[in-house]
Amino acid sequence: MEYGSSVLIDRSGRKISYVRLSLTDRCDMRCRYCMAENMTFLPRADILTFEEIAAISSHFVARGVRRIRLTGGEPLVRRGAVQCASMIGKLLDHGLEELTLTTNGTFLAEHAAGLWDAGIRRINISLDTRDPERFHYITRQGSVEKVLQGIAVAQQLGFRIKINMVALKGLNDHEIPEMLQWCIAEGLHLSLIETMPLGIIDDDRLNRFVSLKLIMPILQERFPMVASTHRTGGPARYWQIVNSKSKLGLISPLSNNFCADCNRVRVSAEGKLYMCLGHEAHIDLRKALRTGDVAMLDMALDQAMGTKPPKHDFDLARPATDRHMNVTGG
Ligand code: 5AD
Ligand code: SF4
Repeated sequence: MEYGSSVLIDRSGRKISYVRLSLTDRCDMRCRYCMAENMTFLPRADILTFEEIAAISSHFVARGVRRIRLTGGEPLVRRGAVQCASMIGKLLDHGLEELTLTTNGTFLAEHAAGLWDAGIRRINISLDTRDPERFHYITRQGSVEKVLQGIAVAQQLGFRIKINMVALKGLNDHEIPEMLQWCIAEGLHLSLIETMPLGIIDDDRLNRFVSLKLIMPILQERFPMVASTHRTGGPARYWQIVNSKSKLGLISPLSNNFCADCNRVRVSAEGKLYMCLGHEAHIDLRKALRTGDVAMLDMALDQAMGTKPPKHDFDLARPATDRHMNVTGG
């Protein structure tokens, strides 16, 4: 195969059409399942400039990528994040079909209009509980009021919103039916997520782990739902809640592994292209880009395709990698 000649297909034959781009590894929260209380972040000089992010995005689109999601850390803590989104947004209608964002919602109210203008129409917002005290406990420093305000502003603007809720035993698992009820009333989608062993944290992940296999029968008894054929190429499986606009997504990398259809790769804030959340395999795109030779970037991407692991091998007893979710991009 000639370098750069074609779409990106990994060694297991999976077409890579989706890239998650981390704008920063920093975050205003310290969710217990994600981070340790004391974290060291990347030196600012090491993170990609917006021009570099736009160049990498444009190159991915030229190689057949159709969807880009901006992530973090918390993407909106990076100054100029909206400006960066509009730079990438220029690729919409030029090969890029969709630009989306994952955020914790703290700074959403003030940035939602700018994100809409950049061309973003769908946002995933992390919300593990609507109870202010519990929210503060889980996130160590977050304010649920700000997040709820951000959700309300985004709703008014017309964004399609999905709530991401990490299921945590003894912390928020009892609140799952109520959260689904609220999402249905508000016209939001809900994705439930099993905790993944990424990076060392202070809490014990094993104690907090809840299998979504145990949660589903409880939800199905209360909410009539039908399995949806909707697929994003990600690890989620969806259920349409009958007589509502809401879908329920299940992200269960531990109890049910869907790596076989994985269509995605992730670029960290410093430009490392990670082929899988749970593996070390990566390629330095920043280095390739800074050679100034486009062929080097193409070569790096082709090389990366040969290294995408067939699947992750998560074991809750130990982190699959030292990288926390905020480094790889959630
Ligand atoms: N396991 C599961 N989910 C995680 N998230 C962050 N860290 C982890 C982890 N270790 C979630 C965030 C966010 C989503 C992108 O990933 O809560 O909603
Ligand atoms: Fe920040 Fe998201 Fe990690 Fe929470 S889960 S600490 S909001 S990056």
